[in-house]
Amino acid sequence: MSASTPVRELARVHGSARLRGELRLPGDKSISHRALMLAALAVGESRIEDASDGADVRSTARIVEALGATVERVVDDGRSVTYRIVSPGADGLTEPDRILDCGNSGTSLRLICGILAGLPMTCVLDGDASLRRRPVARIIEPLRSMGALLHARRNDSLPPLTVVGHTPLRSIDIATSVPSAQVKSAILLAGLRADGRTTVREAVATRDHTERMLRARGVPVEREDAPDGRVAWTVQGGVSVHTVHERVPGDVSAAAFWLVAGAIHPDAELVLHDVGINPTRRAVIDILRSMGAEIEVRPHRDGPDDGVGEPIADLVVRSSELRATDLGPADVAAAIDEIPVLCLAATAARGTTVIRGAGELRHKESDRISGVATGLRAMGARIEIDGNDLHIEGGTALRGAATDSLDDHRLAMTFAVAGLVASGDTTIERPGSAAISYPGFFDDLERVRA
Ligand code: S3P
Repeated sequence: MSASTPVRELARVHGSARLRGELRLPGDKSISHRALMLAALAVGESRIEDASDGADVRSTARIVEALGATVERVVDDGRSVTYRIVSPGADGLTEPDRILDCGNSGTSLRLICGILAGLPMTCVLDGDASLRRRPVARIIEPLRSMGALLHARRNDSLPPLTVVGHTPLRSIDIATSVPSAQVKSAILLAGLRADGRTTVREAVATRDHTERMLRARGVPVEREDAPDGRVAWTVQGGVSVHTVHERVPGDVSAAAFWLVAGAIHPDAELVLHDVGINPTRRAVIDILRSMGAEIEVRPHRDGPDDGVGEPIADLVVRSSELRATDLGPADVAAAIDEIPVLCLAATAARGTTVIRGAGELRHKESDRISGVATGLRAMGARIEIDGNDLHIEGGTALRGAATDSLDDHRLAMTFAVAGLVASGDTTIERPGSAAISYPGFFDDLERVRA
């Protein structure tokens, strides 16, 4: 091989007779991004304990630093990190002298746009090849209707993206065009710098971390629930964000891999400590339980959820007999990041699982509908794709095969977990992508082999 030939990574996972162990997941990715960004908007010192040390959150940390905040890594254990951030606040941030690199992270790109739209500076946001394929019209359109100036490649549809924040923002009342917490959050963050009340209406409730975290930082956020399930969120412009010291819960989207591994393996018991169980994130737990998964939820604190803090629990999962399920677009929105690993669960369930209206999965780090179907089919799964719907026939004994993560962290981890329950050896191309959201994933995979 010549020195210039790129070496492609390959992970090999062989089936395990038993799964046992206690795990602590990396900090929640969504909460970690927001904690860093909100720390940049607040004057003074913020401390974020146990933030995700995945590559995506590192991208956000570098962007916050490029905007003029001091970002110090106080402690890190290779998967989570404690940050100390000192910021001059939104009015003291400065125009960066370089392109802001969001890497693989759609959340960094979209949420930062909401912040930059109201700051007097011009910024260019870019990322890797995958990020350059991710749609941005969904944020450009609402932010433009607030008076912001944004431009992107291919007729304003794809990154790189330029934000010229020199114009004052108008408040809006808008319904999101797709169920997306990233879009909702970008509008609410821009709303903090707008002239009045900004309202975002969602047809399907998406994760509400931005809303909770703004409240925890002294910003009133109103919630209005319509009888048909629609939710409207309102912020008032001109209110300042305060600093906080907070601890990030373990990532439930990372926990999902072990919940499925434990449920579909014939001899398993896994304990997952300190997992965030925010009602807008826990759908994967509820879906698996409705399929018959034995998952015990041991909440850390009693009492009603106050809509400010993040509820946390220890989870215990044991080998289970799963039944097929039928998931619609609202379930897809609620479990958007867990659908690939739920497809794996469906291969082990009795009956045919149907997942309808999963089109948003085509716009993630890869086209996850085709990526997950290709990898699991190679292992013997029977999966039909009909437009944006999936039909997965259960009761399939998976066998080891060659799979490709397509450089998508959630596919890499889905195929690795499939390899744990399959007979023989499974290989995963480009497994390093797991570190986007779950550094240490492959160490944990070795740890749970009893
Ligand atoms: C995220 C929202 C989701 C999710 C992503 C993180 C967030 O994206 O897929 O991993 O932190 O707001 P969309 O809201 O665009 O579906």
